[in-house]
Amino acid sequence: MMKKFLLVIGLLFGFSGIATADGLTAPSLWKNQRGSELRITSLTGSQLHGTFTNYAPNTQCRGIAYPISGFTTSGPTQFTVNFVKCSTVTTWSGSAQPFGYSAGWVLRYKGQVEGGYDFFYRVN
Ligand code: BTN
Repeated sequence: MMKKFLLVIGLLFGFSGIATADGLTAPSLWKNQRGSELRITSLTGSQLHGTFTNYAPNTQCRGIAYPISGFTTSGPTQFTVNFVKCSTVTTWSGSAQPFGYSAGWVLRYKGQVEGGYDFFYRVN
């Protein structure tokens, strides 16, 4: 009986440990495979605050830090960037793990829609 009790307690702590490791944390700095930077400055509950700076080759609006709006959970993590000077709005959606954040994105530019994938690794 005691063994079962200890096993249940152990599992509860174990799972909660894994669950809290999910999602993006603040402050943190992430880079994707295109060289772009995602900076998380703070969290209000699950709401993300920070900036995204595009450095992807063959794109516009590089080197400008735009504010992000989005949320992070132990399930999905999603954020949107309005690249105002480029009339482009992109939304990333995926799953954040301690080792990285893998996200699909949808880019909208003047009625055109493009999609792709980015992998963000933590740099700070
Ligand atoms: C534009 O060229 O219209 C604005 C910049 C768009 C950059 C895109 S957003 C998705 C993808 N991932 C990046 O890091 N940059 C590109």
